[in-house]
Amino acid sequence: MADLPQDARPSAPSSGGREGATRLLGSGYQGAVFLVDAPGGRVIVKRPTGRGLARRLRQVMLRREYRTYQQLQGVAGVPRCLGQEADDALVLEFVDGDSLRGKRLRGSERQVFFAELLALIQSVHAAGVAHGDLKRKDNILRRPDGHPCLIDFGTAVTLRGAGAFGSFLFRVVRRMDLNAWFKLKYQGQDADIDPDDLQYFDPTMTERVARVLRRGWRTLTLRGRRRARR
Ligand SMILES: Nc1ncnc2c1ncn2[C@@H]1O[C@H](COP(=O)(O)OP(=O)(O)O)[C@@H](O)[C@H]1O
Ligand SMILES: [Mg+2]
Repeated sequence: MADLPQDARPSAPSSGGREGATRLLGSGYQGAVFLVDAPGGRVIVKRPTGRGLARRLRQVMLRREYRTYQQLQGVAGVPRCLGQEADDALVLEFVDGDSLRGKRLRGSERQVFFAELLALIQSVHAAGVAHGDLKRKDNILRRPDGHPCLIDFGTAVTLRGAGAFGSFLFRVVRRMDLNAWFKLKYQGQDADIDPDDLQYFDPTMTERVARVLRRGWRTLTLRGRRRARR
């Protein structure tokens, strides 16, 4: 632990004060992610790092992620959120499993996994959450019993309390999740595409989003009005 920045060290409650019981798993845009052998069992701690504005932004993101986990409570296949510490660090249930990165599933194992993954993504959506980062294979884990698990809701979009734009965004990100599922399922596979799966793939969505963003940008910069005045 000697090589960790001071502000990234898990505090006593999550590490149980046991030196050496903490392992840094990675460092991303939300801060540092640790595997901690706490007295009550293994947990994951996502801790904000850095200083000033960067740190505050990370804390805001972690608070958002915490609220998202509250909304997902009870969805099987999503780790339980065990709480949030004073510095906004998120404490999560540790999921024993390998990420999809570098994993090649075949045959019926593959079919079953992707069918379960689709059902899981749909239950997350039914809870009013769209993940938004499922193209990243690290965010999808396969447990030793073969069942899928989704992690990293740092960029998720929730429907609860969302206005018109929020609802639109939710629908877009929900579509992105399904597109990501389709791409992951068929990526690098010679297997024929199951016609039933085509309903989950809508590549024109990107163009629609670009159009709306362009319109929003024009409104923001008042380009239309300026042109009319000329
Ligand atoms: N609940 C969890 N159980 C097991 N491993 C996890 C868990 N949460 C995160 N990890 C591991 O930590 C890595 C980084 O966590 P993640 O939440 O994806 O943060 P980042 O924003 O840095 O991508 C993941 O790719 C995974 O290997
Ligand atoms: Mg991640």
